[in-house]
Amino acid sequence: MRTHHCNELRKAHVGQTATLVGWVNTKRDHHGVIFIDVRDREGVTQAVFRSEENAAAAELSHTLRHEDVVLVTGSVAGRPEIDGQSTVNPNIDTGEVELVANDLQIVNRSEVLPFQLDKELSNEDIRLKHRYLDLRRPRMARNLKIRHQVAKACRDHLDEQGFIEVETPVLSKSTPEGARDFLVPSRLNPGRFYALPQAPQQYKQLLQVAGVEKYFQIARCFRDEDLRADRQPEFTQVDIEASFVSSDQVMGLVEGLLARCFKEALGTDIGGPFPRLTYREAMDRFGSDKPDMRFGMELTDLAEVFRNSEFKVFSGALASGGVVKAINAKGFAGVTTGQINRLTETAQLHGAKGLAFIKVEGGEWKSPIVKFFSEAERAALTEAMDIEEGDLVLFGAGDWATVCEVLGRIRLECAGYLDATAGNEELEFLWVTDFPLLALDEETGKWNAVHHPFTRPKEEDLPLLEAGDKLGQIRAEAYDVVLNGHEIGGGSIRIHEGELQTKMFAALGIDETQAKEEFGHILDAFSFGAPPHGGLALGFDRLVMLIAGEESIREVIAFPKNNRGIDLMSASPAEVDFKQLRELYIKSTRDEKKPE
Ligand code: AMO
Ligand code: AMP
Repeated sequence: MRTHHCNELRKAHVGQTATLVGWVNTKRDHHGVIFIDVRDREGVTQAVFRSEENAAAAELSHTLRHEDVVLVTGSVAGRPEIDGQSTVNPNIDTGEVELVANDLQIVNRSEVLPFQLDKELSNEDIRLKHRYLDLRRPRMARNLKIRHQVAKACRDHLDEQGFIEVETPVLSKSTPEGARDFLVPSRLNPGRFYALPQAPQQYKQLLQVAGVEKYFQIARCFRDEDLRADRQPEFTQVDIEASFVSSDQVMGLVEGLLARCFKEALGTDIGGPFPRLTYREAMDRFGSDKPDMRFGMELTDLAEVFRNSEFKVFSGALASGGVVKAINAKGFAGVTTGQINRLTETAQLHGAKGLAFIKVEGGEWKSPIVKFFSEAERAALTEAMDIEEGDLVLFGAGDWATVCEVLGRIRLECAGYLDATAGNEELEFLWVTDFPLLALDEETGKWNAVHHPFTRPKEEDLPLLEAGDKLGQIRAEAYDVVLNGHEIGGGSIRIHEGELQTKMFAALGIDETQAKEEFGHILDAFSFGAPPHGGLALGFDRLVMLIAGEESIREVIAFPKNNRGIDLMSASPAEVDFKQLRELYIKSTRDEKKPE
């Protein structure tokens, strides 16, 4: 229908006839002359309606409303000077020209919109209810385009590296990735259920047994878990697996892949190789297994300062095998009481008994605890923490894991109050390696896989798998890739031997019968010449979010669910009628009394 798109006309087109189609983005009436910005996917172009050119079209243009679909034909003209002032609009690419309209067709009318497209809207529910309108906004159109570019960069790069894309079933069997499964009842097999895949983990390993050697898939994954800004119940992974590879090779491949994504979408060079931290070091220095490295404020160990302190909270923690650590939030001595209270609540929520602090103001240490410190302790603390005027030092005392976790959260919260990353365009990538293989569930007393049960223990730690009492010390041959405090991907080298896999299941409290029932296919496959293999999955939505500079993955998903897992536009999940349930041999217990 068009001769040009709405971001195409330039000075060089002046004098030509052009036809544009698109939506009425804005409409202005200057003394009876109507100016319309016609918008399409690519941009906007101004069209001018004057009665000199076509009286009927000019008349009709008065009736236009926002988001009507129009077809405008006219001649391209340079923007005139009026009263010695240029009317060129430097804010748009087509700003040097306008289309002097001599024909207007109203292709379709729009009702009054539920919200204005040219304003930021804080009510996300309204945006999601009318997502098709929300997506018309340039920012959202850009995000969709970036998502496409990143997907294409992934496919191109992996293809060039010899990987082939293989689709795996969505109606599948549960893979334990740590979340709850979404289930689909089988009509043909009464009483049985498919599980939607939390990840294609087992299939991609089976594809290695099948000799595919280099697999990838831009795969949809489903996890029934609590939702957040960076979590959706269905999300996308760039899922990768290869045979005969080392961890270093997988990490190298992913660095190259990420470099390609940033280059193609933003033109940015991210460099590499990325720095690496072990899990232990990341927790010890940043209190997080996905540290944001754009600012310092590292956790400092103060055992040597307080071992013999009068302040029993500190010396007592050390005496019982714990740690004392602190962070220095430089320049945050002006912290308000409200902020201190909120920080203390965070600390308590994550297991701390309190959050001791020192504010350095007017040359004085303002703190409820310094009265317990000796001169020598003060001096040693000043040295260790580099304490200066204007600082806020926050302490944690207790067991290592709790103190690291608590101070890690306090570090992020302080960085938030201090706007530590505002206007900072740095991209701080890193690898976190050597995760623990297993973690004890305090409630059940059972060991769980930290990642998933197919992750390989580090070679040196293999003997510990049988020792029984040292399960917590086993490190995994696993790695996460982190960008600016977000975990954007994770993977590992896998177990490929049936015997080792059986031992792993045993450590997880899965006995032989249960292992056969749930994972028989994997154990079988491993008995027929399974190659050593490993891989990783990138959280595609998170990656695109960070590339697009957004704060929520919902901004880079065309039709996301809200925080309650609801698609407000189509109103799903929805009730189904009894007959449909009957066909599936299931019955809702929603209205039944919960068993005591
Ligand atoms: P993992 O469970 O770490 O690994 O998932 C890989 C990456 O997927 C992203 N991610 C999510 N993104 C949005 N919403 C969610 N609910 C969500 N959950 C995870 C994260 C994460 O780093 N099979 C393994 C990979 C492997 O071992 O190869 C797996 O799924 O960015
Ligand atoms: P208390 O002696 O319990 O009144 O604590 C004195 C100060 O130390 C208070 O500011 C507490 O918030 C803080 N505090 C208590 N326990 C801890 C802990 N485990 N880690 C850090 N600070 C603590």
